[in-house]
Amino acid sequence: MTDATTIAVSGDASYDITVGRGILPSVGDALPPAARKVLVIHPPTLTEQAERLREQLLADREVLLAEIPDAEQGKRIEVAAFCWQIMGRADFTRTDAVIGFGGGAVTDLAGFVAATWLRGVEIVQVPTTVLGMVDAAVGGKTGVNTAEGKNLVGAFWTPRAVVCDLDLLDSLSPNERVAGYAEVVKAGFIWAPEILELIEADPARAVDPRSDAFRRTIELAIDMKARVVGEDLREAGLREILNYGHTLGHAIEHAERYRWRHGAAISVGMMFAAELSRLAGRLPDAAVQRHRDILTTLGLPTTYRAGAWQQLLATMQRDKKSRGGMLRFIVLDDIAKPTVLQAPDESLLFAAYQEVAG
Ligand code: GLY
Repeated sequence: MTDATTIAVSGDASYDITVGRGILPSVGDALPPAARKVLVIHPPTLTEQAERLREQLLADREVLLAEIPDAEQGKRIEVAAFCWQIMGRADFTRTDAVIGFGGGAVTDLAGFVAATWLRGVEIVQVPTTVLGMVDAAVGGKTGVNTAEGKNLVGAFWTPRAVVCDLDLLDSLSPNERVAGYAEVVKAGFIWAPEILELIEADPARAVDPRSDAFRRTIELAIDMKARVVGEDLREAGLREILNYGHTLGHAIEHAERYRWRHGAAISVGMMFAAELSRLAGRLPDAAVQRHRDILTTLGLPTTYRAGAWQQLLATMQRDKKSRGGMLRFIVLDDIAKPTVLQAPDESLLFAAYQEVAG
């Protein structure tokens, strides 16, 4: 194995996240020793790599592959049923295991399949996108979408291990990589300013997957997620800070019928949250400008249609993150000082939106 970094997630179900290059072969070591059968759930774009992974794991177990549709198309109950069918036909037992091999949607679906088969089997998550590595595959949120909305059905099901092989990112398009990187930027604003400093020092290097700076920022973002979910798996408190930029971001994704990448939507959402923080008298102007500068330098969007406000507000009011009928936003008192702003005045929200309306 190469120079892998191990980040531990503590809590009731503790596990390790391994980050490095060329570490895909270590997935076998992460599986439960008793597992005789393994189901690898992957999207069509990773068929070849899934086959190779299968060859590596074959030595002492039966390895089944489930190819599922990519992105949100894969996060459907029918797709989970397809996986259950493969498991049923193979007499998959409670000691067998699942591998989620793909982006965030694939690891969410694979986690859900593992959480539900025989009331729960072990899963090793092998994220293949930036978003998957720093967010979706860590923290045990699993689920599927329904006609009524995203992630309405699911379970908290912590993985046995998460293996992040940075080599897998080489094949991503620059757009996809940068969009996923928005979650890394978020980690910089709410938790780890070193990420922001690395981006400011050399933005191109920070998003170059072969650079040390990129790896450092990814590790810092994963470390943040590991600490937050280690303390608050079920989002009873601290975990809510991860929603920075997401309240408006989710509404934009909805307005765009999920054709925008998640990271692009939360980039606008972070800009909005920063403006809201400023107008609420919390965040200094310079910190808001820092958001605009960093997001713009990376090529991430910071504006959205001026006329969309009423639609976005209505969607936010329906969003599951509005608790007890009240809208809640994560705002900043300063960089790395997130806090909750509950039920802000609609005029304040409108004023913040004017600052991102393009
Ligand atoms: N993606 C937000 C969370 O895991 O809580």
